[in-house]
Amino acid sequence: MQNQQIVLILDFGGQYNQLIARRVRECNVYCEIKPYTTPLDEIKAMHPSGIIFTGGPNSVFDMSSPHYTKEILEIGVPILGICYGCQLIAWMDQGDVKTAPVSEYGKIALQVTDPNSKLFRDVPEASTVWMSHTDYIAAPPAGYEIIGKTKDCPCAAMQNTEKNIYAVQFHPEVTHSEYGKQVLHNFLYEICQCNGDWVMDNFIENTVAALREKIGDKKVILGLSGGVDSSVAAGLLSRAVGKQLTCVFVDQGLMRKDEGDFVEQTFTTMFDMNFIRVNCGDHFISQLKGVTDPEAKRKIIGTEFYKVFWDEIRNQAEEGFFAQGTIYPDRIESGKGKSDGKANTAVIKTHHNMAKMPEDIQFLGIVEPLGDLFKDEVRAVGEKLGIPKELVWRQPFPGPGLGVRIIGEITAEKVKILQEADWVLRDEMSKNGYEKHLSQFFCVLPGVNTVGVMGDHRTYDHLIAIRAVTTDDFMTADWAKIPYDILATVSNRITNEVEHVNRVVYDITSKPPGTVEWE
Ligand code: XMP
Repeated sequence: MQNQQIVLILDFGGQYNQLIARRVRECNVYCEIKPYTTPLDEIKAMHPSGIIFTGGPNSVFDMSSPHYTKEILEIGVPILGICYGCQLIAWMDQGDVKTAPVSEYGKIALQVTDPNSKLFRDVPEASTVWMSHTDYIAAPPAGYEIIGKTKDCPCAAMQNTEKNIYAVQFHPEVTHSEYGKQVLHNFLYEICQCNGDWVMDNFIENTVAALREKIGDKKVILGLSGGVDSSVAAGLLSRAVGKQLTCVFVDQGLMRKDEGDFVEQTFTTMFDMNFIRVNCGDHFISQLKGVTDPEAKRKIIGTEFYKVFWDEIRNQAEEGFFAQGTIYPDRIESGKGKSDGKANTAVIKTHHNMAKMPEDIQFLGIVEPLGDLFKDEVRAVGEKLGIPKELVWRQPFPGPGLGVRIIGEITAEKVKILQEADWVLRDEMSKNGYEKHLSQFFCVLPGVNTVGVMGDHRTYDHLIAIRAVTTDDFMTADWAKIPYDILATVSNRITNEVEHVNRVVYDITSKPPGTVEWE
């Protein structure tokens, strides 16, 4: 992006590196994470306003640990070292780094010993920080002064004002460090002189201009799933090139109640684009007939989805670009770097995870308008583009859709029952406002019939399970402690309003040992 200031985050393998990047972005400064193997010339060529050395699990004494050329300390760019990054700076400049007599882990009291340090502007002399280290700096290098300490760490923060190098043993990026965000803000604004030009309005304006330039008068095709990322990508592309954009939305009939219609209505009425909806629910049901194994079901749904999707793309005769809603964490995790326009070697992201593009399909290149954004930034862009909140704040929804929420054979009747029950749950949670406490919630149809009684009649009908979790990252999750009165209302409504359901149970399993989905 032209003239956009950038801060580089040099990745030494720490677990919080993406969090550092998100915090920097929250301060309205654009940043990118680069591996520690990035050559110095490449770093210099990016003209960063500042560089942050991340933490890492290693010890600087171990020569197989990630190191960097000492020259980086002399290029005149402000540097902030965090945890391992802090020790690395001390070690590179011949300070005294040792194994600490006492390792610090968790919340620790920090004492700022130089309140005049630019790094600690508006940070009180006593505060709590988050520590996690076994090595420490026993004595800082010549030219550096200690600006903060803890009970067991004589140099918890140091600075070399001449070289504009700062380092903290603690983790300012985690929320347990009370003034962590202020420390990062100070580094960016007091030391790197950043101007805060990373705001979503600029992003939209710059991206729309860049998309217009890249796409020119050609066509562009986007696979739209109705998920957050592809929806926002569609919104941006529509703003950039209008009718040159064609969105292909494959409705495999396994979405939530009325969801396909909602997606179609949103994009056909609110945005300028060509919208193709491929309705193939019946085809999917016939392909899934008699299949009960969870992996086999997933495989069929994924394979059929691609068949339908690529067949539709083949129908688009005119040559053009292929767009997708890849976001920054997809690229960091895959370690693939920016797409280079070689369309046929690219890994394609859709709501059915990843798949290779068929070799007979040729595009002029790949377009990934959200490739530099974190999820929260994608949502901010989506809101600014006027995409409805239901889409922008949509819960995660698995690629195979309700297919992983119907245990055993999937039939049209079961899909309908599950859609209705799930709609009642969502409606109730929306009405009572409890949805804001939940990360994900939905109904499952276990394919179990139980005996019940309705009026004078005995029934033998479906069981519905409610699943609701709270989590930060979906790697682990707690079952949500939804109040009993809410559960009672939901249960009542489901058994009254949904035909063929006579019993409701609540899943009280955390992850691990359970997963969020049932299949
Ligand atoms: P699990 O069940 O693995 O789910 O604890 C963690 C999160 O991932 C979602 N999920 C999927 N998403 N394709 C997806 O795109 C899938 O096959 C899939 N399976 C699970 C799940 O909804 C939860 O948010």
